[in-house]
Amino acid sequence: MENIDLIKKAAEVRKNSYSPYSGYAVGAALECEENMIHAGCNVENASYGGTICAERNAITNMAADGMRKIKKIAIVGGFADGSGDNSALVPPCGVCRQVIREFCNPETCIVLLAPIDNLEKITEMKFADLLPLSFGPDNLEK
Ligand code: THU
Repeated sequence: MENIDLIKKAAEVRKNSYSPYSGYAVGAALECEENMIHAGCNVENASYGGTICAERNAITNMAADGMRKIKKIAIVGGFADGSGDNSALVPPCGVCRQVIREFCNPETCIVLLAPIDNLEKITEMKFADLLPLSFGPDNLEK
């Protein structure tokens, strides 16, 4: 899928964000090796700690559909009410980076970020640049 279309999918699913506590809505859409698209939004919890980020929800959706490899992942976000800096990017949090790592090849997996006020302004990087020297499934191979 074209980068802009994956970003638009992320922006679309972001509309379903359940974020009553932070007011910060995030959407993620990923393309897996089978060329299917899996999406997720952040789902918050009154306990705060029970919150699940958009990226991890997209990944668990992929896994539940039986797929295991992320080729490309797009993330967009910002305050749902339009306040704050809408030109800011949403780089995945540390936990999400580690979860993405589980299901990607760091050298080939592409991460796409775009500001919510300008989806066409896409920043593209390979995953290995976001999480260098990562610990992954390979490390547990004997
Ligand atoms: N959030 C994500 O969904 N993904 C990230 O990578 C960063 C943070 C969500 C979690 C929480 O619901 C809100 O953004 C504010 O932290």
